[in-house]
Amino acid sequence: MSGNSFGKLFQLTSFGESHGLGIGGVIDGCPSGIELDMEAIQKDLNRRKPGQSAIVTQRKEPDEVEFFSGIFDGITTGVPIGFAIFNTNQKSKDYDHIKDQYRPSHADKVYDDKYGFRDYRGGGRSSARETASRVVAGAIAKQFLSDVKFTAYVSAVGEIQMNKTYQEVDLDTIEQNPVRCPDPEKALEMEKYIKQIRKEGDTVGGIISCVIQNVPAGLGEPVFNKLHAELGKAMLSINAVKGFEYGSGFEGAKDRGSNHNDLYNNDGTTQTNQSGGIQGGISNGMDIYFNVAFKPVATIMQSQQTINNKGENVEMQGKGRHDPCVVPRAVPIVEAMAALVLADLTLLDRVVKK
Ligand SMILES: Cc1cc2nc3c(=O)[nH]c(=O)nc-3n(C[C@H](O)[C@H](O)[C@H](O)COP(=O)(O)O)c2cc1C
Repeated sequence: MSGNSFGKLFQLTSFGESHGLGIGGVIDGCPSGIELDMEAIQKDLNRRKPGQSAIVTQRKEPDEVEFFSGIFDGITTGVPIGFAIFNTNQKSKDYDHIKDQYRPSHADKVYDDKYGFRDYRGGGRSSARETASRVVAGAIAKQFLSDVKFTAYVSAVGEIQMNKTYQEVDLDTIEQNPVRCPDPEKALEMEKYIKQIRKEGDTVGGIISCVIQNVPAGLGEPVFNKLHAELGKAMLSINAVKGFEYGSGFEGAKDRGSNHNDLYNNDGTTQTNQSGGIQGGISNGMDIYFNVAFKPVATIMQSQQTINNKGENVEMQGKGRHDPCVVPRAVPIVEAMAALVLADLTLLDRVVKK
């Protein structure tokens, strides 16, 4: 398996499986001299961890990160930052039934087809447990870019959609409800719906919106490494993601140029921001905003028809501790991936300038 590293200069390599000893990573290229707030790193991990509320998987993992290198007296030294999160709450027996069978729409069959061997316990490497490493690296990237503000939040669960823009809500209220939606009425509706879905043994999808504020102009390499292309890859690399749009996105396709163009103010800012803070693949200093669509995850607590590794039809009954809706836990993952992209492009920008 290759492709376990993300970023060119600020680079995270992640390792580990859901039911192995632990998961972790190495961050290569993080500049020296960054005074780290270690609590802020753990806080982001706590926002992702299982068992944090009644609407997420009930697997109880403390998800405490341990650092092995690259930090001395709380300050980055410039050498690789190695870290791990040990797994403490595996129930591998819950996965015995998928040893020879494939969960429809999960990664079970494609892993078997590709590698001829699969660690089926907890989904192995295909488990979103891997994303805890991204959250650690992203929390460090956020501190490297301390002037930039990354805010992700849940804007839809199934058909329940928040109809307000990020400017119309108080982004500081996101952590006040377990859904992480800044519209309190919608948050309640979403919470109730997720509970109902869980009772039915089913799952539901959702959308995470993200806004990045105070981004300096000039980030992004404008041919293959366009800022929005890098963000798209980052978001689409998150488990269960099915869609990415930035700025006016798919709605913009219905518009006319005369309405869609962002007209300039004399100070170089724009009167509107359909561009989503990016033009020609380069940040223009306006807010960057985007949406990420997550599917209803594959493991449902209902019986389903599937096949086994001999191609025979079998009936599968879902088991184990799973997320009925992943978006509340995926909020810090989206922020982390956005921070990793901007940290990398910030370092690249320093390389290409005199
Ligand atoms: C935070 C988070 C939690 C997840 N929890 C589960 C889960 O409990 N059960 C499940 O089947 N999939 C879960 N997934 C999704 C799977 O990891 C993912 O669907 C699987 O790896 C197949 O990849 P794909 O959906 O991207 O094709 C989760 C994803 C995220 C982002």
